[in-house]
Amino acid sequence: MSGWKVRFEDLDRANQPVEAFDCGNAVLTRYLRTQAGQDVRRHIAACVVALDGETGAVAGYYTLSASRVDRNGLPDELVKKLPRHEHLPAALLGRLAVDVAYQGKGLGGALLMDAAEAVIASPVAAWAMIVDPIDNAAAVFYGKYGFQKLETDGTRMFIPMKTLAKALSQ
Ligand SMILES: CC(C)(COP(=O)(O)OP(=O)(O)OC[C@H]1O[C@@H](n2cnc3c(N)ncnc32)[C@H](O)[C@@H]1OP(=O)(O)O)[C@@H](O)C(=O)NCCC(=O)NCCS
Repeated sequence: MSGWKVRFEDLDRANQPVEAFDCGNAVLTRYLRTQAGQDVRRHIAACVVALDGETGAVAGYYTLSASRVDRNGLPDELVKKLPRHEHLPAALLGRLAVDVAYQGKGLGGALLMDAAEAVIASPVAAWAMIVDPIDNAAAVFYGKYGFQKLETDGTRMFIPMKTLAKALSQ
């Protein structure tokens, strides 16, 4: 993300211009404008927004919630190294989107890494991060970072937190 400054803040609808946000996907745009604040108040999701350091415009956002992953959907070589629990703790990256004016500048990747840092810093353990890509392009985006498809769970993808931690340390 060269050439412009961005800062990450917890969602605070009263002080951030979320109504102007438009990522080109109606569902993800509407979610930030109308639903995210309520989900945060009800402890359904945490929401972080990326603000343009100069204008204060909302350039992107992501949400995180506690979730779990079914060990049956994981590749054999990973399962061998895991405790025999039916489910493993996971952080659900429920939504991630970048405003059309800011796409292609590295912000999507920066939001993903900020979410990874938040999960790693949390005292609540998560073995993996999981996502439900909204379309094939989103699945390709997540695949670039090492997310893999879960075998038992539709289009859901996962990545071990250990892999994300390694990416952050490089
Ligand atoms: C998908 C999205 C989050 C990517 O954000 P972005 O800021 O444009 O992406 P970045 O600039 O950080 O790109 C990171 C990498 O992903 C790739 N990428 C970005 N958008 C992509 C897309 N739609 N399809 C495939 N790859 C994509 C980039 O080429 C880049 O790869 P590179 O480092 O090898 O060049 C953004 O385009 C968006 O919000 N789209 C609409 C909503 C959406 O689909 N969200 C996904 C939620 S499930």
